[in-house]
Amino acid sequence: MADAGVGVFDSGVGGLSVLREVRTALPAEHLLYVADSGAAPYGERPAQFILERAQAIVEFFLGQQIKAIVVACNTATAVAIQSLRSRYAVPMIAIEPAVKPAAAQSRSGVIGILATSQTLASENFSRLAERHGQGVRILAQACPGLVEQVEKGDLHGAATQAMVAAYLEPLLAQGADTIVLGCTHYPFLLSVIRAAAGPDVAVIDPAHAVARELRRRLESAGLLRAGDAPGTERFWTSGATLDVMPVMTKLWGCQVSVKRLP
Ligand code: DGL
Repeated sequence: MADAGVGVFDSGVGGLSVLREVRTALPAEHLLYVADSGAAPYGERPAQFILERAQAIVEFFLGQQIKAIVVACNTATAVAIQSLRSRYAVPMIAIEPAVKPAAAQSRSGVIGILATSQTLASENFSRLAERHGQGVRILAQACPGLVEQVEKGDLHGAATQAMVAAYLEPLLAQGADTIVLGCTHYPFLLSVIRAAAGPDVAVIDPAHAVARELRRRLESAGLLRAGDAPGTERFWTSGATLDVMPVMTKLWGCQVSVKRLP
C-alpha cells in the first residue's frame, strides 16, 4: 500500500500549485493529477454539478492504485468535502482558505480573501470565518474571470493585471494588510498580485500547509513510500489534451504528458 500513489485534483490546472508543494514535501511519492478542465471553472457552477464532478474524479482515482486523495480545489472542498468523506473511506486532505493564519498575523485587523463565488457563498466558508475570523474584519472578494486567465496560461498579460488590480483595489482601500489566496489557481498570479498589493501586504497561500498535513497523515498511517527513488507524476484532463498540455507544461516547469480522463 505504501507504494500506491496520491491522487490530486482540481477543476483545472490550478491544483498544480498544490501538487508542486506535495512534490517538494514528499519526493518519493507517486502522484496522479486530474485537471477537470472540461468542466472548469467550477466557481460559478451549481453545487450539485461540482459534487458530481468530484465524485466522478474520486471514483477514477479509486480505480487506480491510490492511498490518499488531495482535494486541491477550494471550491470542491467548500461544496463537496463532507459528502465525499462520508461516501469514501480513502483518506482525504482538502484545501480551504487560510483564514486562521491570516487573522493571526494581520496588524491592521482587516484581511482580504480572494476566492470563487461558490467558495465564498458556501456554509463551509461561513463556518471558517466565524470560527477563525473573530476579532478581524474579513473582506471576501469573488474574482470571476481569473481562473480562466490561468487556464489560458495568461499569467502576466494586461487583462490579467487589470483584473487583479480591480479585485484588490477595494480590499486595499479598506485597509487589508493580509490577502489570502482562496483558490488554487491564484498562486500562479503571485507576481501580479504582489505588484498590485505592494510590499506592505502579506499574501498567504495554504498549499504548503496542505502538503505538510498530507505528509503527517501518511506518516502516522505508516504509508510513506520508502527509499530514495524519486516518485513519478501522471496527469489526466477532461479537457482538450492538446490545449491543456502546453499550459500544464508551463505551470509545472517541465514537459508533461497529459492523458484524456476516461
Ligand atoms: N482552483 C479552484 C479553487 O481552488 C478554482 C475553481 C474554479 O474552477 O472556479 O477554487
